Amino acid sequence: MVSSEAAPLAKTGGLADVVGALPSALRGFGDDVAVVIPRYGSIDLKSLRRVFDSLPIYLGLTRYDTSIYQAAEEFPLYLVDCPPLFDRKGFYGETGVDYPDNHIRFAVFARAALGVARYLFRTEIFHCHDWQAGLVPAYLRTAAATDPTYLGVRTLFTIHNLGYQGLFPKTALADVALPASVYRPDGMEFFGHVSYVKGGISFADWLSTVSPTYAREIQTPEFGFGLDGALRSRAGVLTGILNGVDYREWSPETDTLLPARYSAEDLSGKRVCKEQLLREFGLPAEALDRPLLGVVSRFTRQKGTDILAHAAGGIVDRDVYLVALGSGEPEYEEFFRRAAAEYPGRIAVKIGFDNALAHRIEAGADVFLMPSQYEPCGLNQIYSLKYGTVPVVRATGGLDDTIEESTGFKFIEYSPEALLGALTAATQAYQDRQGWQEMMRRGMRQDFSWKASAAAYSALYRQLLGV
Ligand code: ADP
Ligand code: GLC
Repeated sequence: MVSSEAAPLAKTGGLADVVGALPSALRGFGDDVAVVIPRYGSIDLKSLRRVFDSLPIYLGLTRYDTSIYQAAEEFPLYLVDCPPLFDRKGFYGETGVDYPDNHIRFAVFARAALGVARYLFRTEIFHCHDWQAGLVPAYLRTAAATDPTYLGVRTLFTIHNLGYQGLFPKTALADVALPASVYRPDGMEFFGHVSYVKGGISFADWLSTVSPTYAREIQTPEFGFGLDGALRSRAGVLTGILNGVDYREWSPETDTLLPARYSAEDLSGKRVCKEQLLREFGLPAEALDRPLLGVVSRFTRQKGTDILAHAAGGIVDRDVYLVALGSGEPEYEEFFRRAAAEYPGRIAVKIGFDNALAHRIEAGADVFLMPSQYEPCGLNQIYSLKYGTVPVVRATGGLDDTIEESTGFKFIEYSPEALLGALTAATQAYQDRQGWQEMMRRGMRQDFSWKASAAAYSALYRQLLGV
């Protein structure tokens, strides 16, 4: 697998959770998986073992010196070290601005991943994730096409989020030593730009995305971000495989990050979690018997932050409380700060990335809010089910595929009114304590472990290899 993130070493979102967990689940099906990620500045070299000293990458005449490290994980996790490109504060940029050389960074990364397959881990399938790995299929169809090392090698490209495409000026092609011939609509050209995600979409043998509904949605203009035509033309090789979740990390029975543990049989610990969460966020004790809404999210438009902003007053009117954790685009961070200032004692916010707090919110809240504009899969709502925190979600992508009437509340229209409508239904249902607990328990007993998804990927790998 070639990915720009893998938990726990490098994570900004769900992609990391997926790539951190799926390889171990695949082992259960007899598949041997290694993962390649960049060695970012935040990953301490001292915790790694150097396994390949010198892997020079030539992009045209420019040479990039890389070396390969390995981390002590359950599966071989290789890290591409190239300090001038990756030893930086951010993964993709800083203070909301992308690094100007991202096209070079993820070209060197892709070429180094090919090197890992040549020298360290004999590879039959490159499973590439998102635009940062999109050049792997592109190089395999061009510069590496006649290299005997990769004869018969297959590629699978998984789209985790079509909103991020890796778009660069046309001149990028020469910088990363791709031939001009890929600059065509059924290659990597995209409205006058070079698109790295199209490297995957056009050149991979097979495509997948992370839920069946999102696989259909991205073939429509509403969700396709301009790529719906390209995706429709490859519809025959596009599959939706729902993500699983790692219950070793996300189970209230065993979660050591919580102040108390609990289960579907004994929910008492959840009240302790709620009490402490209210205290941590400075919300009043009266809130203990009212619905507490939780949000853990990247603060971007995708996550429905704007309709949430417009619903803030309506939320407070419903005599409910809200805690939110997130970071992202400055304007949305600012909205949350403002809402907390406007409704003190009702809405409380922490800006930042904090895994332990994310767990405490999953456990301490009664309702988990995900009003996403689009959501390829979404993991938080699945964690919420396990934590007995009833999801209120917009019926899109993986949210629609994972939440049912018996386990949560869905709304269809992307508007503050529709969101508030679903919240009204949830707060009314909350009054019926017994009915509410039954709903919690139904969610807690559901199984979204990796097994089913890993089985689907494993079957797809075998189909690709013709075995
Ligand atoms: P996405 O990948 O689009 O951000 P997902 O729901 O698939 O959405 O996954 C998000 C993952 O990132 C979850 O594991 C969630 O707990 C975590 N996460 C998101 N924001 C934060 C944050 N501010 N602090 C800690 N964890 C976060
Ligand atoms: C993306 C999507 C999210 C999905 C995650 C893992 O970041 O936004 O919906 O769950 O990838 O596939």
